[in-house]
Amino acid sequence: MLDVESIRKDFPMLMEKREKPLVYFDNAATTLKPYCVLDAIKEYYCNYTANAHRGDYDLSYKVDTEYEKARNICANFIGAKKNEVVFTSGTTESANLVAFSYGLDFINEGDEIVLTEQEHASNTLPWFKIAKMKKAVIKFIPLENNKVTIENVKKTITNKTKILAICHASNTLGYVNDIKNITKEAHKVGAVVLVDAAQSVTFMKVDVKELDCDFLYFSGHKLCGPTGIGVLYGKQELLEKMTPFYEGGGMNIIYDKSMNVTYKSSPTKFEAGTPKIEAALGLTAAITYLEKIGLDDIHKYEIELKKYALKKLKELDNVEIYNEDSDSNLLIFNIKGVFPQDSASYFNKYGICVRGGNHCAKLVVGHYVPLNLRCSFSFYNTKEEIDYFVSIAKGGSDFLDAYF
Ligand code: ALA
Repeated sequence: MLDVESIRKDFPMLMEKREKPLVYFDNAATTLKPYCVLDAIKEYYCNYTANAHRGDYDLSYKVDTEYEKARNICANFIGAKKNEVVFTSGTTESANLVAFSYGLDFINEGDEIVLTEQEHASNTLPWFKIAKMKKAVIKFIPLENNKVTIENVKKTITNKTKILAICHASNTLGYVNDIKNITKEAHKVGAVVLVDAAQSVTFMKVDVKELDCDFLYFSGHKLCGPTGIGVLYGKQELLEKMTPFYEGGGMNIIYDKSMNVTYKSSPTKFEAGTPKIEAALGLTAAITYLEKIGLDDIHKYEIELKKYALKKLKELDNVEIYNEDSDSNLLIFNIKGVFPQDSASYFNKYGICVRGGNHCAKLVVGHYVPLNLRCSFSFYNTKEEIDYFVSIAKGGSDFLDAYF
């Protein structure tokens, strides 16, 4: 059981005195940050600022130690080994890193890159670029009742499939894909599987060894960590054979004027330039904080909140819900007859933050479901907030009243 009342006190955004209430239901976009994350960042800047992996003095040794400790904590969080974790700026950079580092070297003319129609732009557009550059073929696994099925995976992949990029949980529909079995099928045809876990890590346990995926990525800011930091997991043997996407200091051993470059081993060879030190430390503080509360309890509570909101919203005649049976912590819906971004502005009038639109998943929204409003819950949200939100949703059809 979570002590939500005391958890809320850990978040300055929730303690701030405001003219209107703040009900933050846009956690799939980004989460609020607890004091411990802010403190970890402040401590680095106030007490031990130095660069990482470059200095030969005590301060820099302290930074090296904390930065590598951060990598270890992130690796443990997803069941990976420390050297299989590359720090990036987020899910988008991770997806691009794999597309360019792996794709440019190992995708050839006529090869197939398989995506699903649920993907976020970040798991789609890097592959469009690689497909154009390498004359590869993009294919999509069609959705069945808005879900990815093993049958459709099997129908789509062939011996020419080299890449299968798929989200673990859709940021829009909220369904969780059966990555373990999808990976099994993809490996039978020799494809490499990339998993966008940006949403799933927030409400379920993710273990890369159990999933047996080849790459997996997530962002720190959706886990109560800072923006500008993300984790890319890659199987060691794949990371070792990949050429870095970015070049610069810190990632090479030696180079000469004839353009011979010897790189460090992974993960260091993928982290050119000064690392995102304070963000990695902030993310570590966030993961440590979440683990201390208890990930299982957090996950259970977030799903419970989603179910509670679903039940309450279903009692309203003016609300249409599109993912009643979703597995995750999010719901998509509309106030009947009202354009979603108008509804989002209406909710905003009452201090309620929800996202309206296509949520960067433009192959699914407008095709499988209409433009919609998305509510995504976190462990610091409460049933009282949901009651308030539902009471406001009730009047949503007269949304213009809020402005007059
Ligand atoms: N990808 C984030 C979302 O789904 C920003 O809202």
